[in-house]
This record gives sequence, C-alpha cells and structure tokens, in this order.
Amino acid sequence: MFFCVFMQVIFSDSVAQESADVVVVVAFEQECEFFKNKMQELAKNEMPDVIFQDCLKMKYKGAKKYDLIVADKLVEFLFVSAGEKDKANRASLEKLGGAVHDLIKAKNAKVCVYNDIENKGTEAKLAAAYFSSGMMLKSWNFEKYKSVKTEQKIDSVFCQTCFVKENQNEMQKMKNVAGGVHFVRELVSEPANVMTPEKMLEEAMGLKKHGVKVNFLTQKDMEKLGMNAILGVGNGSDSPSYVIAMEYQKDKTKDVVALVGKGLTFDSGGLCLKPALRMGEMKGDMAGAAVVMGTLKALAESEALVNVVGVVGVTENMISGSAQRPGDVVVSMSGKTIEVDNTDAEGRLVLADVLCYANQKYAPKTVIDVATLTGAIQVALGSEFAGLFSNSDHLAELLEKSGNIVGEKLWRMPLHDSFEEDIKSCIADLKNVGSGNGAGSITAAMFLQHFIPKSVEWAHLDIAATEWEKAGRSLAQKGASGFGVRLLVDFVLRRC
Ligand code: BES
Ligand code: ZN
Ligand code: ZN
Repeated sequence: MFFCVFMQVIFSDSVAQESADVVVVVAFEQECEFFKNKMQELAKNEMPDVIFQDCLKMKYKGAKKYDLIVADKLVEFLFVSAGEKDKANRASLEKLGGAVHDLIKAKNAKVCVYNDIENKGTEAKLAAAYFSSGMMLKSWNFEKYKSVKTEQKIDSVFCQTCFVKENQNEMQKMKNVAGGVHFVRELVSEPANVMTPEKMLEEAMGLKKHGVKVNFLTQKDMEKLGMNAILGVGNGSDSPSYVIAMEYQKDKTKDVVALVGKGLTFDSGGLCLKPALRMGEMKGDMAGAAVVMGTLKALAESEALVNVVGVVGVTENMISGSAQRPGDVVVSMSGKTIEVDNTDAEGRLVLADVLCYANQKYAPKTVIDVATLTGAIQVALGSEFAGLFSNSDHLAELLEKSGNIVGEKLWRMPLHDSFEEDIKSCIADLKNVGSGNGAGSITAAMFLQHFIPKSVEWAHLDIAATEWEKAGRSLAQKGASGFGVRLLVDFVLRRC
C-alpha cells in the first residue's frame, strides 16, 4: 500500500539558478558577506539597492525573503541564517531544512540551495545533505481521504556543494531513513477501520521485499504459548490479534538487538472506557509497532550490516460480551499472573507477552521497546522529549546520544524498587496499574521490567506524547510525527 514520492535532491558543484523558481542561500549568522556576494551574483544587475544595504547591515537571524524579477522571471529569494557557527550540527541543519521547506511559497518548485556552511561548520561537509534531509522529512502530509487535495510538493532541490560524492552517499542513507519515517506516519495516520491488526500484518509482510524475514503468530499459536496477557486485551475485538516477528539479520556475527513495539490499532480503553473527547486519537496507539517496522525498513533498504529483530504485538482494545473485565486475572507467557485492574492499561499487558516471547526466541543482548504507553508521560515531560527507562546506564547513554544527534530527544526517568509496592496485587503476582498516586509512567515501566531477564540490557521508550505532532513544528507537519525511527536507526548503526 505504502507509496511515497520523494522530492528529488541533486547535488552539484555548480548549480545553475537560471531554471530555479526559488533560490535559497544559507550561511551562518555572522557571514553577511556571503549573502551579499551571492545576491549580487544571482540577481545580476537587478538587485535593488535597498536589499544590498540590508545585506550589509543585517546580522541575518532567522530568514528574509525577497521576490525579484530576474531575466523576466519572478524568483523567490530566501536568505536563511544557520545560526551561530559553533552550534551547527546535523540536528540543527535538518531542523533548518524543515523550516525552510515551509517558508517556500512557490510549491511544485525547483529550488536552488547555496550554502556557505560546508566550509566552516563543525559537521561541515555534509551540510547540504542534512539540510535536504530536513526538507524531505517535512515534505509529507496525509491527504488520502480528501476529495480536493491542497498539497503541493516541492519538485526538486538542487544543492550546490564542493563535496558532491559525500553528500550523495549520505543523502541515499537519509532518504531511506526518511522513507521509514514517512512509512510510520502513514500507518499512524490511517484510521482504525483501515489499519486493523490484519492490515498491520500485511504491511509487515511488505518488508519482505527489502530482505526482512517476516513470521507471525496467530491466536492459536499464542494460546499454545500461553500468551494470555495479549490475548486478553484482544478478547473484546472482532479482529484477531497477531504477534509479528521481523528479522533483519544481515550480520549474524554481531549481537542481536531486539526492538519490541506496542501495536494497538485502536484503544477504546475497553470496559474502563475512555472519554469520547480525543478517543479518536487512539488510532495512533500502534505507533510503537509502526516505529519498529519503519526502523527495520530503513535499515534493510540501506543494506546496513546489523543484526536486528523486531517483534510487535498487534491487537485492538474494544468492548463486547467477550471483552476482558477489570478484576480478571491472566497468566502471562512468563508464568507470572496479572490482575487486570484497569482494562485501559492494556499496552503493558501486550508488551509483557511480546517481551517474554522476544527474549525466549532470540536471546537478544539488548532489548528496546517502543510504546505509546501512558498519558502521564505528557504530564511529566511535555511533548518535546520521550520518556526513557532503562536497567543499564550504558544503554541509556547510547540512546540519549543518538537522540541528541538526530534531534529526537529522550529524558531518562527513574526505575526504583520503591515503586514496586504500587503494582503489587492482593490476588495475583502483579496488577497492571498503580494506585493512582502519580508516577504513572514509572509504574508502567516497572511493570514491564518484570518481563525482562536481569541479564538483558533493556530500555523502554514511552512515545505517547511525541508520536503526534500537535503544532507542526520542527520536522513534521501537524499529525503523525514518526518519532523514534531516526533515533533507533542511528542507535542500531552505532551499536552494531
Ligand atoms: N494508549 C494509552 C496511552 C496514551 C494516552 C497514548 C494518550 C497516547 C495519548 C494507554 O493504553 C492508556 O490508556 N494508559 C492509561 C493508563 C492508566 C489507565 C493507568 C493512561 O495513560 O491514562
Ligand atoms: Zn489504554
Ligand atoms: Zn493504549
């Protein structure tokens, strides 16, 4: 189903601006000279003196636009400041590309980009690729169900650079990553009547063409394995649940990294029904699973030499005569018994069995689960950082590092025995919610930890507040953000 047409990005050491509809000039804040010279060269003799004066005076913070007639053609000029020289890096340049994408009025346009960064900045050589990657990430929206489409994509970007080969190579990788991000956005944006558990399976099967092995468990298989925690969640739905295992083990000499995802194609809350207001957003409760799939897609398409498996539980939390009740007790695959105190805390039930299965099947050294697990993470961290929980300082540091590099930031939260009391049950080994005295994201993570062997280094990413972009800032338009793919791709590449 997934089909994505990227804007074209062409790198060349001599970009001819004659055919361009938009000319973008990027330089550091202190480098007015470059703007001035470029403007003079580009606008030929037709540059009004007032702009010339601007160039001299301005420190060029932010961006400045001019519409000029050059050789009888209206050309949009955009001067963009890349900020302070010593603060530039991949994340800031990608962000800049995203911002510029939205500043360009003339869509369907041919855009010429000149930059003065590659000669100066820290990650200088690849400035053009980073900038273009940002534009590419921002260049996505979801109009599938609109009869009248308003979307106008930028047609092509011509980037001038002295490092053509380097930027081309980097761009190829970044394009695959952007493909993974767009894929996630697509899956998350689809309504729950379309993106059913069955459809998620079909989408996972689509990864086979990139060299990913895909296997799945049916409900019958899950019953045999005793996966009653995930089965209980899906009980109220007419759609069957699946556990999907995706293997991209290109280099088996390396340690296995397992990525585990929560895939609730809809979370009504179950009998502990959610309020109507914003319940519709729960079509995105499969974002964790989608991020796992998008990460594998990006890595496989890049033919990365890594050893990674993705295991996701896809199901739907609904109400019906067969729905699970508050107070029910389930025996999870691990053998631990769980009192389902709240049917809306279903993600951790799904993950309990999927984490157990992933550990048994692959004996991974490292496990990272990704889930839209708790509304409480928004209260704790807002929507700029995702919550990071880990039993390993080393793993947490690596993930934080990747997050900072790509600009998908993580904030580490505590795991501590003192929260253990909160999830003790009178009737079973555990209950699936705390007592409601705050720390909701922590008690959720503490619950998950019960299903991880102590010897395994594990991290849990709570992406409930970062999965959906409300304002349409940085690298995503309003809507599904795809948060997590860029982070995990970077992490896996570093780790392996
Ligand atoms: N899917 C939700 C978490 C969520 C909330 C994701 C908002 C995205 C946006 C999760 O299954 C849930 O319902 N969690 C409950 C837990 C509570 C019952 C302990 C919550 O956060 O309210
Ligand atoms: Zn829920
Ligand atoms: Zn949920």
